[in-house]
Amino acid sequence: MPVKKRPQDLRSHRWIGTSDLRAFGHRSRLRQGGYDAHDWEGKPVIGIINTWSDINLCHTHLRSRAEDVKRGVLQAGGFPIEIPVMSLSEVFQKPTTMLYRNLLAMEVEESLRSHPIDGAVLLGGCDKTTPGLLMGAISMGVPAIYVPAGPMLRGNWHGEVLGSGSDAWKYWDEKRAGNITEEQWQEIEGGIARSYGTCMVMGTAATMMAIAEAMGFTLPGASSIPAADAGHPRMAAAAGRRIVDMVWDDLTPQKILTKESFDNAIRVHMAMGGSTNAIIHVVAMARRAGIPMDMNRFDEISREVPVLANIRPSGEALMEDFFYAGGLRALMNELRDTLDLGCMTVTGKTVGDNIKGGQVYKPDIIRSLNNPVSRDGATAVLTGNVAPRGCVMKPSAAEKRLHRHRGKVIAFEDYNHMAREVERDDLDVTPDHILVLKNGGPKGGPGMPEWGMLPIPKKLVKMGVRDMLRISDARMSGTSYGACILHVAPESFVGGPLALVQTGDEIEVDVPARRIHLHVSDEELARRKAAWQAPSPRYPRGYGAMFSEHIGQADEGCDFDFLAPLGPVPEPEIH
Ligand code: FES
Repeated sequence: MPVKKRPQDLRSHRWIGTSDLRAFGHRSRLRQGGYDAHDWEGKPVIGIINTWSDINLCHTHLRSRAEDVKRGVLQAGGFPIEIPVMSLSEVFQKPTTMLYRNLLAMEVEESLRSHPIDGAVLLGGCDKTTPGLLMGAISMGVPAIYVPAGPMLRGNWHGEVLGSGSDAWKYWDEKRAGNITEEQWQEIEGGIARSYGTCMVMGTAATMMAIAEAMGFTLPGASSIPAADAGHPRMAAAAGRRIVDMVWDDLTPQKILTKESFDNAIRVHMAMGGSTNAIIHVVAMARRAGIPMDMNRFDEISREVPVLANIRPSGEALMEDFFYAGGLRALMNELRDTLDLGCMTVTGKTVGDNIKGGQVYKPDIIRSLNNPVSRDGATAVLTGNVAPRGCVMKPSAAEKRLHRHRGKVIAFEDYNHMAREVERDDLDVTPDHILVLKNGGPKGGPGMPEWGMLPIPKKLVKMGVRDMLRISDARMSGTSYGACILHVAPESFVGGPLALVQTGDEIEVDVPARRIHLHVSDEELARRKAAWQAPSPRYPRGYGAMFSEHIGQADEGCDFDFLAPLGPVPEPEIH
């Protein structure tokens, strides 16, 4: 049994529980807000860290969910305080929200540290918000529980089910090929996002929400509840009740996160057919927790765990269907023989306890280990002379013929160069060519934009080609699909070998052997390297300049070097 904290042990006691002048100042300002001693005396202060914003449509409901969390906190005898932090709106923020994940993590960590907060409820879900919230909470170290925003409802067009992102790419190519009209395209625009909530395919949002649950950071089943389901506010209130007990029990992230809990998360990622982006985020979160982790762990586990969730883009259904099929508890119960069931979670119980009784109601949506959606792992990590520190691919979302392929390269120096060329009707390209995009990495993008699903050249789209090999140091949306090799490390902007690839070179990819090889001699590569000129940094000042100076490469999780756990950060002085 954990030793219970006493009121005088709370962090907030230093701010509002003493009888000195500073505590007078703090309490007088609480009274200014209409509170009195009944609100705070002997109670943990719970920070509700909210990423709601008008421009983040995935989080529209988080404004009222914060009220549900407060209801739960009050029911359990806590004092709820809502603190807004920056929202990362995947669709709207340019050049990419990945440029700001670490900024959100810093804001969360410092908001918790600088205020009289005893425990935190983290509200988010749109792509980078989940790792940003968790990274900050891990580094700060107070008890924290995560309330996933949940997926939006299925899209609909003329009775066809539409999936976020995936069907946008699909119908965009049909429009480019002249197969659908402008009017039909606009109808799709009105039907593809029908409610608040995150993207409802197995994109980065659904992947990271599931990973957070598998790591032990949510109430059981929380990550699968659609945002518009009445179970969602009930879950938010329950999280509010739970965090109060977590504070008294001092159940901090450090007591939940272990090498085994991260392995559980990676196994769930594979079984979900999760987004390649998760690799970067999981590596970053593990390193924040002081647990050694690299991309190779994903490759090892991908060889053991097949894809079980029949969700687009690897499968056919959507997250709403996944919820009706039993949700994550059911999927984890299918995986139970491969998981470490003894890992601790925010419930104060183990993973094994939390998933007990999880039942699959639709075996075509949540498959068994004997009947998977795909035996090709959700993630393969390749290495070779063009990616000495690795690169990643999602074999389950690529045409099988491209798992082993050798072809001539068409190289693009940057995104704009690529965007111009692929629209040319006279581009000298065949389906066997390999498209290479440079300068899309952490420093080059900057922020590793989701450019990695390079468009199929228009000329080939009109011929019916829908997949070809593409290589870049960028990322791709989890809603994307195709034979896209991503996260090449080190990136071209810092002189990685990708910078030396030229149109006409040949590259050979062998996914089963996890190899990628540029067929250019070492002597020729040395000659090209000597002639290579480093580009100037993208930003002369401000956050972008700081980002470029401190950002790590993809295989390191793209965290800032100064955010690694280098030693304890002192608690703020109260004076
Ligand atoms: Fe928010 Fe996809 S845009 S999750």
